[in-house]
Amino acid sequence: MEYTAEPVAVVGAGAIGMAIGAALYRAGHPITVCGGTPVSAFEVTEGGRTESIPVTHTTEPAEIKEHRLVVLAVKAHQTPAVGEWLRAAADPDTAVLVAQNGIEHHERVESYLGASSVVPAGVYINSERPQPGVVVIHTVDVPADLVIPDDAAALRFRERLVAGGLKVRADPDFVTVAWQKLLTNLVTNPITALTQRRIEVFRDAAVAEFAVRLLEEGAEVARAAGAVIAPGHARATVTWLQGFPDGATTSMLRDRLAGLPLEHDAITGAVLRAASRHGIAVPAVESVHALVGALN
Ligand SMILES: NC(=O)c1ccc[n+]([C@@H]2O[C@H](COP(=O)([O-])OP(=O)(O)OC[C@H]3O[C@@H](n4cnc5c(N)ncnc54)[C@H](OP(=O)(O)O)[C@@H]3O)[C@@H](O)[C@H]2O)c1
Repeated sequence: MEYTAEPVAVVGAGAIGMAIGAALYRAGHPITVCGGTPVSAFEVTEGGRTESIPVTHTTEPAEIKEHRLVVLAVKAHQTPAVGEWLRAAADPDTAVLVAQNGIEHHERVESYLGASSVVPAGVYINSERPQPGVVVIHTVDVPADLVIPDDAAALRFRERLVAGGLKVRADPDFVTVAWQKLLTNLVTNPITALTQRRIEVFRDAAVAEFAVRLLEEGAEVARAAGAVIAPGHARATVTWLQGFPDGATTSMLRDRLAGLPLEHDAITGAVLRAASRHGIAVPAVESVHALVGALN
């Protein structure tokens, strides 16, 4: 072990916060859970095995002042509600892993963090939180559980996460990483939430054509923003989704069925903001954003 075992603050101990927190605990780091429902352990089930990870819960932001590693994994729209935790940890030596969907990881947290380092993460873990303190991690065949930038702050997390058993890829082109994930979310999340159908909805020919239009608009914005998106990406993505097994679902559909607020502003909203910056018309994205917003 080349790194120091130091306490890690987890802000948002949900499906992803617990999966990442568990890996960091296995790598030797005590875990402090910041606010939310009080828990004394994470019960982590993966591949039929359940492990109990002891954690300390606090409701006092002052108690994480000395924590130099923070994992932020609340849903994107819940970030303002945890601002006081981020402010408490803010220090030039602090690195914050922002494990959230979207492309606006930096913008979302910079007003709270001052000179701390922000490490955005593309999350490919597939997990659920059936109740507070309990996480079920579904084994998925992905090349990496997390994709992060290739810089010094990201390295502080990478070596620890890898020691804890996660597959982590460092990519020097994080703009492309984030946009590729956002484009998939742009069709899967809103379309399943709006239709209340699982991923098999993409086998419907009319839905598939609409998804291609949405993706083509999104890809134009992504390229203007500097992401490398291959020609034919839109149709290839829809063909890939059509091959998903029956029953595959999305977080936005799950949240809609549970009556929870939807994370659409970080997805369709982010595409609209980028489109406006680059002067690109995205009528299909605009319509979907309005419709999903009306569900909230
Ligand atoms: N789950 C996945 O498979 C998956 C996959 C890819 C990407 N992502 C992304 O990862 C991010 C996290 O998603 P998730 O699925 O882990 O969400 P989640 O299960 O809903 O977890 C969010 C957690 O944040 C906590 N929280 C909310 N408001 C809080 C507050 N004011 N103070 C303290 N804690 C608060 C909640 O605590 P309580 O438990 O107390 O309510 C909840 O446990 C999202 O951006 C999501 O899109 C998720």
